[in-house]
Amino acid sequence: MTRAVCPGSFDPVTNGHLDIFRRAAGIFDELVVATGTNPSKSRLFDPAARLEMLREVCADLPNVTVMGFSGLIVDFCREIDAQAIVKGLRGGNDYEFELPMAQMNSHLTGVETVFIPTNAALGYISSSLVKEVASLGGDVSALVPPSVLSRLQAELARSATAG
Ligand code: PNS
Repeated sequence: MTRAVCPGSFDPVTNGHLDIFRRAAGIFDELVVATGTNPSKSRLFDPAARLEMLREVCADLPNVTVMGFSGLIVDFCREIDAQAIVKGLRGGNDYEFELPMAQMNSHLTGVETVFIPTNAALGYISSSLVKEVASLGGDVSALVPPSVLSRLQAELARSATAG
């Protein structure tokens, strides 16, 4: 059985991520979507909220499970006996960023990274841009699943009130 992990911050999960989950789930027997923390990025949603959103949007994908992880992704892969890491690539910048991580992870434990090119129609979507556009009143309804949209609006309203 082949099990792969698709790791990310998912702050929040977007339609671009969901497309990668669906396509990876068609390649591997089992896909584990894993939320971790990227210390170089500021977060809007806490880990529990990111997990809940992922579970909601992956509910109709029978061979996809959602888990949180901390520490090294390679250690998490070993813990759950996953043979591969899956990453979506939107373009050259993603490749430049992801390549050394893939090489490092292969060096550390031999786990290999499989890159899936993003659907061309979704390649401009990022969680960071979604948050920026939504926080300034722009319409992101076509960029995130409906359950994420309502949570995003609620969280932005809450953080605006909190100052
Ligand atoms: O969505 P992101 O922010 O690109 O996700 C990054 C994440 C969380 C997948 C990445 O930072 C990660 O794998 N963190 C775990 C720590 C780790 O293994 N670091 C070494 C990577 S070579």
